[in-house]
Amino acid sequence: MPQHKKMNNLEDLFKDVLMDLYDAEQQVVKALPKMAENAQATELKQSFKEHLEVTRGQITRLDKIFKEMKMPVQGKHCKGMEGLIKEGEEVIQEEMEPGVKDAALIAAAQKVEHYEISGYGTARSFAQALGHTEIARMLDQTANEEGETDKKLSTIAESHINRRAKEERAGR
Ligand SMILES: [Fe+2]
Repeated sequence: MPQHKKMNNLEDLFKDVLMDLYDAEQQVVKALPKMAENAQATELKQSFKEHLEVTRGQITRLDKIFKEMKMPVQGKHCKGMEGLIKEGEEVIQEEMEPGVKDAALIAAAQKVEHYEISGYGTARSFAQALGHTEIARMLDQTANEEGETDKKLSTIAESHINRRAKEERAGR
């Protein structure tokens, strides 16, 4: 049986997407401290901590959007994010050389970012189609922040983490 009432139009679907994003961000807020704790490189630890702050801001932005849409602030369980975070937890639990673990944490985090970029891109398009221009702008801002985080993670990986991971136990 469907858990939610029938969606009749794009506005209904848009609201559903917003609730999904809201829940996804809540899951990210819970996961990031664990990612930071388990990262070895200071730069990576710092980047996870910074993204935690950015994520909190994104949740505040969603709060405003819910208010604007006259919706109760409520999430709807995001199974996609649950799966991605489980993958990250597996990385944390698996035994790996420190450099390898950092490379694996970055890979897991970038999957999360790409998933969010996709979700916010869809939400922004829906907002635009519905004439919610200001909301579309806010969603675009979040999508850009996720994009910046993704790029920063690539830079960290490519500047030294991947090389370090490659050289772990090399020649031993
Ligand atoms: Fe986010």
